[in-house]
Amino acid sequence: MSLLAVEALSKSFGGVHAVQDLSFEIEQGKIHSIIGPNGAGKTTVFNLLTGLYKPSTGRVVFDGEEVTGRDAHELARRGMSRTFQNLQICFNMSAVENVMVGAHLRLDQRLLGCMLRLPAVKRGDTRCRDEAVELMHFAGVGKYAGAEAHAMPYGALKRLEIARALAARPRLLLLDEPAAGLNPTETHEIDELIQKVAASGTTVVLVEHDMRLVMGISDHILVLDYGRKLAEGSAREVRANPEVIAAYLGTLSESQER
Ligand SMILES: Nc1ncnc2c1ncn2[C@@H]1O[C@H](COP(=O)(O)OP(=O)(O)O)[C@@H](O)[C@H]1O
Ligand SMILES: [Mg+2]
Repeated sequence: MSLLAVEALSKSFGGVHAVQDLSFEIEQGKIHSIIGPNGAGKTTVFNLLTGLYKPSTGRVVFDGEEVTGRDAHELARRGMSRTFQNLQICFNMSAVENVMVGAHLRLDQRLLGCMLRLPAVKRGDTRCRDEAVELMHFAGVGKYAGAEAHAMPYGALKRLEIARALAARPRLLLLDEPAAGLNPTETHEIDELIQKVAASGTTVVLVEHDMRLVMGISDHILVLDYGRKLAEGSAREVRANPEVIAAYLGTLSESQER
């Protein structure tokens, strides 16, 4: 059985059909990617899956239960966790406190409430703090365990966000452009981290423009264009699809599988 099934999902904003009649499945334990040009509807799909937006029509089934229209906190409790295309770091908190917020999300706290410093985070629950430090090491940013978030470089903050998402102990991790703005070395580190996450048993859905990363890492790729499914399949299948090649002006055929 698939971990997540999306059936005929649509979302419109006024006259803009951001997502149209979209159906796909996410298999447990695999790395799935969603690709498509800017404005194709990738982030909207994440917002629909994680409860930030309510779908106009369609159904979302997570772990065998229909969860369409459920709120973000309930979905987080059920095991969905995500990162954001634009950094959502609380710069008035330490790096570790940012990760601790992820664990509190699981306990139904509001992420953006962290600007006020969550009392539970401030109190410094030792076990929660130790787990957060451990996750920072896992994400490759352990050396910033004693740092304030504002003192961290951008590349490290992207990985701190992944550590925070993992603090919720998700079954499904959705990553919205984790390699955006990173250099090739940093992108390679993100690649390794995503593979480590998947190997630890967490199912991953990746939205990413770096085609080398996507083609090398994905078990399955869904291609969106104007909110609709253009193609799906393995990296090999997607790269060979004439419609995909046309939409991407052939650039996919140049990216190499690693
Ligand atoms: N909250 C919103 N209000 C109005 N339009 C939106 C909103 N979110 C997304 N859109 C529109 O939906 C379309 C898809 O956007 P998005 O999902 O962000 O695409 P992508 O992540 O693939 O670049 C775009 O036309 C965008 O302008
Ligand atoms: Mg986006």
